[in-house]
Amino acid sequence: MNAKTIFDLPLMDLLAFVKRCCHEGLHDTLVDLRDHSLRRIQDDGTGGQLILTEHVLGLIRRIQRHLAYEENTFFPLIEVGGHQGSGLSLIDDLINDHAQIIAAMQMIRAMTRDFEITQKMTSDCVSYYKKLVELERLLANHAQIENQILYPMLQKIS
Ligand SMILES: [Fe+2]
Ligand SMILES: [Fe+2]
Repeated sequence: MNAKTIFDLPLMDLLAFVKRCCHEGLHDTLVDLRDHSLRRIQDDGTGGQLILTEHVLGLIRRIQRHLAYEENTFFPLIEVGGHQGSGLSLIDDLINDHAQIIAAMQMIRAMTRDFEITQKMTSDCVSYYKKLVELERLLANHAQIENQILYPMLQKIS
């Protein structure tokens, strides 16, 4: 690949980059976090943390729906040029979806006092919070690359 930055990539290469670098890691983290959430509920009901865990599971389902829509509908549409014309309106829906997902993540951040780790926490809880921090980072990366690079490129070449 001769391009200097992802801004220089041709559309199909950019799409491949998004699938590989934005989606694959996110899928792995979601599966980890889902397993961890279910384990927390099963182990001890997680006490005061139950509401947090339920919120996280809801967010995971929501992100998985978003990724599935992109991978099964939107990206294949781009590959055949179908995002042009009326297909461009789908971009607004996806940007809106990103905003709602980030807002749900911010709510989880607030519930955890900015993912604060205290001495009273079990090691399981510490590792759960660290995974939430990782999810937040991957989500921000995902939204940034799609909102600021992929979608503008689609709008420009339509
Ligand atoms: Fe995506
Ligand atoms: Fe997305």
